[in-house]
Amino acid sequence: MSIVGLDAFEVEVETDIRPGLAKVIIVGLPDAALKESEARIESAVKNSDLEWPMQRIVVNLAPADLRKEGPGFDLPVALAMLSAHGQCDHTRLAGYLIAGELSLDGSLRPVHGVLPMALKARELGLGVIVPAQNAAEAAVVSGVTVIPARHLGELVSWARGYTELAPQPPRRIADLLENTPQDSDFADVRGQEHAKRALEVAAAGGHNLLMVGPPGSGKTMLAKRVPGILPDLSEEEALSVTRIYSVAGLVDADVGLVTSRPFRAPHHTASIPGVIGGGTIPRPGEISLAHCGVLFLDEMPEMPRTLLETLRQPLEDGEVTISRANLSLTFPSRFMLVGAMNPCPCGYYSDPKHKCTCSMGQILSYRQRLSGPLLDRIDMTLEVARLPVEKLAVDDAPAGESSAAIKARVMAARKRQRERNQPIPRSAVAAPSPAPDSSDASATPGLVAPVGQASLPANLSPSPGVTNAALTSRQVRAYCKLDPACQALLTRAIERLGLSARAYERIRKVARTIADLDGSDDIQVPHLAEAIQYRSGEERLRG
Ligand SMILES: Nc1ncnc2c1ncn2[C@@H]1O[C@H](COP(=O)(O)OP(=O)(O)O)[C@@H](O)[C@H]1O
Ligand SMILES: [Mg+2]
Repeated sequence: MSIVGLDAFEVEVETDIRPGLAKVIIVGLPDAALKESEARIESAVKNSDLEWPMQRIVVNLAPADLRKEGPGFDLPVALAMLSAHGQCDHTRLAGYLIAGELSLDGSLRPVHGVLPMALKARELGLGVIVPAQNAAEAAVVSGVTVIPARHLGELVSWARGYTELAPQPPRRIADLLENTPQDSDFADVRGQEHAKRALEVAAAGGHNLLMVGPPGSGKTMLAKRVPGILPDLSEEEALSVTRIYSVAGLVDADVGLVTSRPFRAPHHTASIPGVIGGGTIPRPGEISLAHCGVLFLDEMPEMPRTLLETLRQPLEDGEVTISRANLSLTFPSRFMLVGAMNPCPCGYYSDPKHKCTCSMGQILSYRQRLSGPLLDRIDMTLEVARLPVEKLAVDDAPAGESSAAIKARVMAARKRQRERNQPIPRSAVAAPSPAPDSSDASATPGLVAPVGQASLPANLSPSPGVTNAALTSRQVRAYCKLDPACQALLTRAIERLGLSARAYERIRKVARTIADLDGSDDIQVPHLAEAIQYRSGEERLRG
């Protein structure tokens, strides 16, 4: 099966058999993939008590102009060839989209992109035959019969009607989401009330946030707990996220669905295609794997500047477009950014216990690696101090507030945002792009297998959300009104901190979120004052 983007569409496998030099010729796969596939199919057939045909058989994968990639074609090609040779029967197979990689012994290995494949099958009114390890993933798509395949021989016997294979029981997405375990809890974090509060505000409004603090202050620990206080994934979001994980081959084989908000933490040495997405046939990167969840960038100033700058667009648009000479693909990437950095290269600037060894010049140039335009997309900056050992060492200290309690407040604040933050129509609305052309699957004897193709259809993309962080300038004016007292406070703060015009808007959004957490219809002076405080680290970062 081949994956380009996040969609599957079908490939027909046609066969032609005639006397002549004994040879199986596969047409329509790129050369390298073809050689490997031929070798696997031959071994798998011979090791499944099936006969390798001693005739000339041509197997064609159509349409020819469609890029096909990956080992998923092994199974449909093998079945087509065996059918042409009279060892298998394609009648029963014709009602299914089929994908699977063959091992040399004839057993099946999991493939990528089974969720988009099952969605495609539903659209076409077909079932799917997939490797058993992908069956749970396919079974979340309601209304599609899923046949789990373990072995080529077993499947051939089923196709000929000799044996039966039990279809995978369908799974209700709602049930899967309900049984999601939570691994890390805010209750484990001692003290750090200020940081916890800031993360609650960030989660409530969907604000990007940067933590500045020395090593060991708990930045990573805190960041990991953010997905646990965000609202549960909706069914639509879970499908949309799983689709990305499916294409990347990262869906848990037992569950078959991504059930909790992603937390992705690419290392600062990660490659640009690894983070942004890319490759010859573009694959989703970390920012898309973080879709609907949290992207944690530790040691942010250590990241290559080009990478940081490339993040600006997805941060703004919630999606990333990867362009190649002959195609351009869009992956969703609407995530909450949680950044972390040390206050200086040695890490101990302003630490009460350790002495900082950096010069002022070193500190400034370190901080300036985060460009102004990037910082402008981060609504909140938070300083995290190291907890004194005395406080950390107390074993019987009362547990902190649980993630569940914080999440309840976050959800109440989100509800207020949903009800209030109505879109204010712009004059021009972009037209949806036309659906990809799909060829007729039922035409020829033979089999169909999925391949991938571009971009997520609009109906699977979760709404941009109506979080305060996502408000447009127009919405900020309408929904984040400031009374004269607030106005005066904000003007003074901007002057004192030397903040940009964008910061003005961002402070208002954060203040709106704090008011929402407080259940208040209007932004009051204490809300705004707290919001300004989450911006004051910024002046120092800008040097
Ligand atoms: N407030 C805290 N409560 C409990 N444990 C903490 C706290 N702060 C730090 N720790 C402990 O210190 C370790 C290092 O924290 P970490 O999150 O990796 O710090 P940082 O990312 O800032 O370097 C954590 O794994 C945790 O065990
Ligand atoms: Mg860390």
